[in-house]
Amino acid sequence: MSVEAVESKCRTVGGTECSWCRGVRGGTGIAVLALLTSKPPLISNLQTALRKLQNSHPILRSRIHHSTTEATTFSFVTSPTSSITIESHDGAKILAGNENDDGVSPFHRIMEHELNRNTWRDPSADMFVASVYAMPDATASVVVLRLHVAACDRTTAASLLRELLVVMEAEEEVVPEGEVSLAIEDLVPGGKAKKPMWARGIDVLSYSVNSLRLTNLKFHDTKTDRFSQVVRLQLNHTDTKRVMAGCERSKIKLCGALGAAGLMAAHSTRSSSKKYGVITLTDCRSSLDPPLTPHNFGFYHSAILNNHVMKGGESLWELAKRTYGAFANAKNNGKHFSDMADMNFLMCKAIENPGLTSSSSLRTSIISVFEDTVIDDGGEKYREIGLEDYMGCASVHGVGPSIAMFHTIRDGALDCLWVYPAPLHSREQMQDLVNKTKAILIEAGKSYQD
Ligand SMILES: *[C@@H]1O[C@H](CO)[C@@H](O)[C@H](O)[C@H]1NC(C)=O
Ligand SMILES: *[C@@H]1O[C@H](CO)[C@@H](O)[C@H](O)[C@H]1NC(C)=O
Repeated sequence: MSVEAVESKCRTVGGTECSWCRGVRGGTGIAVLALLTSKPPLISNLQTALRKLQNSHPILRSRIHHSTTEATTFSFVTSPTSSITIESHDGAKILAGNENDDGVSPFHRIMEHELNRNTWRDPSADMFVASVYAMPDATASVVVLRLHVAACDRTTAASLLRELLVVMEAEEEVVPEGEVSLAIEDLVPGGKAKKPMWARGIDVLSYSVNSLRLTNLKFHDTKTDRFSQVVRLQLNHTDTKRVMAGCERSKIKLCGALGAAGLMAAHSTRSSSKKYGVITLTDCRSSLDPPLTPHNFGFYHSAILNNHVMKGGESLWELAKRTYGAFANAKNNGKHFSDMADMNFLMCKAIENPGLTSSSSLRTSIISVFEDTVIDDGGEKYREIGLEDYMGCASVHGVGPSIAMFHTIRDGALDCLWVYPAPLHSREQMQDLVNKTKAILIEAGKSYQD
């Protein structure tokens, strides 16, 4: 074995990764991919498959180190070999005492439990952790892959699931390869990334910090320690198809309709005009230099913040065209690159000074949504291998939006997870908003019946 192959490699984190490292310590950015299986997985097979993935993706065999003296210094330390060990848990223990929470399945509850397991407060911890939960009725298990968001944006999570199912069936070994990819800041095409706003003058700064004080949802409990919870918005095929047809007619992406419907639901209880902030997360991989592919694991999204005034009485398609248009225009002007440092700065500013946000809620916007839809047509294959359901999202109970939407279209039907900080917001409040949003989408889709 060559010397090179036995030594750990180390890379300091980039600006965006650093904000996530700080965010995760406070509880935002714990990414979870939870799989409900009807056949108990063979742990040894699963372990072999996960180790193969670690071999293909150096970030998955890395640990995150943070300096104990300098709170903002983090690095990835990549082990030369794969080493993941699957944790086994008794699901019944986690579920005990919580059986009565309405409408939340045992699978959903295990997923929420993992969303709140933060192993990254330690000075050194693995970026990638896997657990298997035996479920009480013994006919199901839940496999949970938990990752630090600096290693796993939404594109990575989608690739991870796809690649896991491939390596589960493949015989061949995977030789450990490569180093952790560069940070997004090092891949921004020439000159498009600017210095953070504090280098550009205090006026810009105060304007942006004011965006931390835009209208939010009503807070339920601002005092108690926060954790993340999830509610699910699902539409059937028919309704999904109609909404998609409406998006096509309006020349917008689905994220525009989801964000707008969410805003309408949120504003429906207010009588005067209000200004709200919506963050759209865009995957920069294809426009980096050199471009990356979804096979490059890591965090390569950038955020664009737009403000929208709601007066009441808006129609969905008009509003969606307006809000999506504001985002698309900002992106056309390169704001996803030029404002990257500003957005990271704003997030860190809120972490350092919660008082800048309403009621110290640490909310940076009302809604965040991903520009692109994850399309998954794997249903038939999943049924063959006993994969009954899955959910993928990340925690927001540190700094973040009130509602973080993670949407996919699965075999033609919309499945959108809403992650929110509890008890700042209650499940009932969120379920009510989901119901309203769903009704708005279904109603707006009716003009597109075939
Ligand atoms: C889809 O849901 C709508 C209500 O949201 C319902 O009216 C319709 O019958 C459902 N269609 C199918 C095919 O299940
Ligand atoms: C939301 O809708 C579901 C299904 O229609 C219903 O069971 C539930 O009570 C509603 N929840 C709220 C808070 O409105």
